[in-house]
Amino acid sequence: MEREKTGIKKADSMMQGGLPKGSIISLTGPPGVGKSIFVLHFLLEGARKGQKCVYINLEEPRRNIDNMISQFNFSREFLRFVEEGKIVIKCYTYPEYEKLYSELFQKIKEDDNIQRLVIDSFNCFFSSMTNQESLNLPVEISSRRMINYAFSMLRKKELTTIAILEMHDSKHRFYYNIPYLVDGIIKLDFLELGTIERRIFIPKMRWTDQYRESRPYEISKKGIIIKEE
Ligand SMILES: Nc1ncnc2c1ncn2[C@@H]1O[C@H](COP(=O)(O)OP(=O)(O)O)[C@@H](O)[C@H]1O
Ligand SMILES: [Mg+2]
Repeated sequence: MEREKTGIKKADSMMQGGLPKGSIISLTGPPGVGKSIFVLHFLLEGARKGQKCVYINLEEPRRNIDNMISQFNFSREFLRFVEEGKIVIKCYTYPEYEKLYSELFQKIKEDDNIQRLVIDSFNCFFSSMTNQESLNLPVEISSRRMINYAFSMLRKKELTTIAILEMHDSKHRFYYNIPYLVDGIIKLDFLELGTIERRIFIPKMRWTDQYRESRPYEISKKGIIIKEE
């Protein structure tokens, strides 16, 4: 199995060297836990290998993303890759996205250079994908059908995708399907008892004998650093 490194060393060692190439991974966890920072590492690592990486954000304006990047020691290198077009950042407001998601999908489909894709967040990405036909179907079937369509397109292309999934929706029937359909799940979480203790856990990773326990991590100017227990 070919692997794509996340760029977070100890995360890669938790899954036999990295994400299975061509897989679709869901990155989940509550707000503020470090999901967006995690994917910065993934994009940077891809760009370092000469891959074209695309980051689609449907929640925040570009300014927020730039502010986030500027926090970290790797920001200059990251921004150089953005200038060179190795890392493409696309921020859309929801109404913009609703108008052009099929066009966007088409573009991704046609661009054979893209090797890493990040969707921040999945929740928004798929909530637009309802059509008249699927509205008449039960939610489970129509959402499974939509996700299936999108996933089969991504799988054909052999690009490695991280889709950020906000957990607050996990009880919704639409999102209930996702853990079954993705190839892997990386969970970030924290205990909040007057102190923040962040932990990473990998409950699912197809084709991988992943690390069985959770590990603590910290966020600093270096980004995400996973620690040994
Ligand atoms: N320079 C930094 N040093 C330490 N922690 C930071 C730094 N920058 C951001 N953080 C932490 O990262 C969190 C935000 O991470 P983010 O990836 O945006 O979360 P998510 O996408 O999961 O909502 C903040 O709550 C803060 O605790
Ligand atoms: Mg985020």
